Amino acid sequence: MRANPPCGLTQKPPCNARIAILRRQVLLVALCFSAAFVFFAPRSFGQDTPDYFKLNCTNCHTIGGGRLTGPDLKDVTKRQGREWLLKFLMNPKAVIDSGDSYGKKILEESRGIYMPTPPGITKGRAEKLLDLIEAESLLEKSRFKGMKISTAPFTDVDRAKGRDIFLGPFRLKAGGTACISCHSMFDSPALGGGRLGPDLTKIFERLQGRKPLSAWLQAPGTETMQPIFKNHPLAEDEIHALVAYFESTTAERPADSSGGRVAFLLSGLIAAVVGIFFLDNIWKRRFHSVRRALVEANTSRGQS
Ligand code: HEC
Ligand code: HEC
Repeated sequence: MRANPPCGLTQKPPCNARIAILRRQVLLVALCFSAAFVFFAPRSFGQDTPDYFKLNCTNCHTIGGGRLTGPDLKDVTKRQGREWLLKFLMNPKAVIDSGDSYGKKILEESRGIYMPTPPGITKGRAEKLLDLIEAESLLEKSRFKGMKISTAPFTDVDRAKGRDIFLGPFRLKAGGTACISCHSMFDSPALGGGRLGPDLTKIFERLQGRKPLSAWLQAPGTETMQPIFKNHPLAEDEIHALVAYFESTTAERPADSSGGRVAFLLSGLIAAVVGIFFLDNIWKRRFHSVRRALVEANTSRGQS
């Protein structure tokens, strides 16, 4: 192999140094491309529309399986225009609050529960979702008709087990986190229940009963819960027990969060006051000793 000549003042390319630079540039561009690929790939290729629908919509909607928390989406593109639906998917609350009669009607039918804005929604994704719903509506049996939900009557054993799942003694089979770490219930002690999520005392009523609540728990679609339960789904018997438990607490009064908060603030205040007295004492003593040292130093200098 003939080596390229070294780069001199009169030497035209290609010469060694330039080739080295060129190689480095090619390498850099290749690196940038692969980094960009790794960064964008999971979003653009991994999570296609049916997966997105399954994760973010089936907790509240079926296609052809009846209403859950939200309406059955079969043939929704025949009930309402595409433009309206696109705007709605981008920001459901804003469209409903703008006050048109269709929005009011579907809100009322959902007992006042607003659909949350779908995570990471874009116009392109909303279009694809509507295409998917349209296509699935034409099928005899959509894959989103909904899962089978137990109709066995609730027993005391179920309710006790549901409570144990909520509080933690019953370990979830797939390893999900106990609900109490983020949620409170009517009887969870003042500072015991978690505060990250809402109180669940009346969740059976809020999500409108057994079928919607069970479906919701099969695919929790909220920002905080989805990452935890996506890879650790609740088992069928665990959902059955939890729903039994939540049904039984509907008549109770939710934990008074303000009481808990007052107690929390008070204990903080007391701790702060005690702390200040304590530090104050130490500080005074420190000053005393510093001063004494200064005074002694001065007086001894004065004496000498
Ligand atoms: C937490 C429950 C919930 C989730 C999650 C949810 N929706 Fe909704 N959806 C509702 C409710 C409730 C309504 C009725 C309008 C209202 O009250 O906001 C609704 C209404 C709709 C409508 C209009 C229905 C009609 O009859 O006109 C469409 C379309 C829709 N949702 C699509 C979706 C899609 C697509 C997703 C997933 C990206 C989704 N929804 C996720 C609760 C939900
Ligand atoms: C890491 C904290 C965390 C854990 C653990 C957790 N949740 Fe949640 N949950 C939340 C948060 C936060 C919300 C509010 C929505 C959001 O921000 O995601 C929520 C919302 C909910 C909702 C909907 C409430 C509503 O009013 O719409 C239900 C139902 C629910 N959780 C049930 C459960 C159950 C049952 C368990 C235990 C099996 C559980 N959660 C465990 C954090 C958690």
